[in-house]
Amino acid sequence: MRVLGIETSCDETGVAIYDGDAGLLAHEVHSQVDLHAAYGGVVPELASRDHIRRLTPMIRLVMDRAATAPADIHGVAYTAGPGLVGALLVGAGLGRSLAWGWGVPAIGVHHMEGHLLAPLLEEPAPAFPFVALLVSGGHTQLVHVAQIGHYRLLGESVDDAAGEAFDKTAKILGLPYPGGPALAKLAEQGQPGRYRFPRPMTDRPGLDFSFSGLKTFALNTVRDELARRPDTEQAKADIARAFEDAVVETLAIKCRRAVEAAGSDRLVLAGGVSANRRLRARVDEMMAARGGRAFYPRPALCTDNGAMIAFAGHERLAAGLAEPLAFTAMPRWPLEGLPALEKG
Ligand code: KG4
Ligand code: ZN
Repeated sequence: MRVLGIETSCDETGVAIYDGDAGLLAHEVHSQVDLHAAYGGVVPELASRDHIRRLTPMIRLVMDRAATAPADIHGVAYTAGPGLVGALLVGAGLGRSLAWGWGVPAIGVHHMEGHLLAPLLEEPAPAFPFVALLVSGGHTQLVHVAQIGHYRLLGESVDDAAGEAFDKTAKILGLPYPGGPALAKLAEQGQPGRYRFPRPMTDRPGLDFSFSGLKTFALNTVRDELARRPDTEQAKADIARAFEDAVVETLAIKCRRAVEAAGSDRLVLAGGVSANRRLRARVDEMMAARGGRAFYPRPALCTDNGAMIAFAGHERLAAGLAEPLAFTAMPRWPLEGLPALEKG
């Protein structure tokens, strides 16, 4: 079965074609970073308009690259939520219309399920069951994954998501949007151990996270240290490093607890923040020490993309799930409410 996947939940337009036998045939992502940079964050209306402009030519391009004609497509998957409702409706509207025009089924995919399953596009793919850490701009969740659709939430952030904390701290450091990658780059120049940020909520049992205090800590440190130190650029890099170390260590501590509690030797990292090199290295080390291993997708499949939506949609369509012609987009959508696939 060959599926066209469309992602338009936020500020990336993603299109891909996934084939159940041949794997990922082609995928393309257009980032709207330049469009939103001047505003310091995503402007929803501009995002929706840009998705409208990009989507049709990108679908043509990806179909060409995958040597795929409409008649070769057996289903269409689009992100139905969570995300910005106007942006979601662009992908949902076009995805459903194409499916109707081509006479094939369509399915609305949960964006976080897409992230969660992205590591299954890689070799070796993690076997079920596993524990997953979903770390994106909007979510920080630990999930026990028994099968596709069998998701049990183990813990989540009570305030800011990890990516949000990266973005806000980057802003405090005067870095351009989107802050996560820029902060990680600056941290490379930082002297480790020069500052020590707290590891929130690690001093008590439980698998929940809280990252909003780190941004306040960063704000205070920046204010005090930039007034005190003449080497401003180095001071910023040292602060970036201390912030990154705190987030990475906090995530690693909670991941260790989660795999211990689940008795699992497989940990999956997914979502934009899982592109972070230091997080990957730390989690690799932690899982290796336990005799297990960590799985994460290539960086291009950590951040938003169409491949993960094509894949997640393929799994559900291949299991016979599809949606009626009326469609909705869900700005909020609990992952645990998804129908489970009975297989394997
Ligand atoms: O999954 P994603 O592309 O979009 C959402 O679904 O939110 O995640 C975007 C988030 C942003 O907060 C971005 O700053 C963060 O992932 N991010 C990173 C890195 N690359 C992206 N954070 C830290 N280090 C990175 N290398
Ligand atoms: Zn995402």
